Amino acid sequence: MRPAQTVSEKMIKVDHTGENGAVNIYRAQRLTAQIRAPHLRPQLAHFQEHEEEHRALFKTYLEERGIRRCVSYHLSGIGGFILGFMTGLMGTNAIAATTYAVESVVLAHLAHQLEFLREDNIDAFNVVSLIYEDEKSHHDTAKAQMLEGKFLTRVLVRIVRLSTEAVIRFGMR
Ligand SMILES: [Fe+2]
Ligand SMILES: [Fe+2]
Repeated sequence: MRPAQTVSEKMIKVDHTGENGAVNIYRAQRLTAQIRAPHLRPQLAHFQEHEEEHRALFKTYLEERGIRRCVSYHLSGIGGFILGFMTGLMGTNAIAATTYAVESVVLAHLAHQLEFLREDNIDAFNVVSLIYEDEKSHHDTAKAQMLEGKFLTRVLVRIVRLSTEAVIRFGMR
């Protein structure tokens, strides 16, 4: 296995790591949502399934080309789990705000990747294209469920956005 070298390889590597974070956010939220937001658990399970599919797509892409996963892969999983655990305990608004914040960064990031990859690497373009609609649906569902004006929502959205951006920047360096 060799490290990711080109921009397109780094993009897929970052996406793979991000999906591991996402899987773990939903896994932990499903656990703690039992207390204050049990009605959300089927939705969280459904989203987690999507994220597992996405992670598998990127994993296959990297493996087929002998590219090593990102060094922050496990850190992203642990961070995602802690974030999901805490926001799951806080209830519906915090759960929805987390998904909204992650996905709003992810959608902008994916749009930027797709624009670049369209010219640079059609295989990478195709694999990134496969996840876009799922992420959009997570974003839209969460946006409708959260209480946008609340102070807690704004603080949480800001923290989660910054963390998501940090994972992306770290992986692309
Ligand atoms: Fe995903
Ligand atoms: Fe997602």
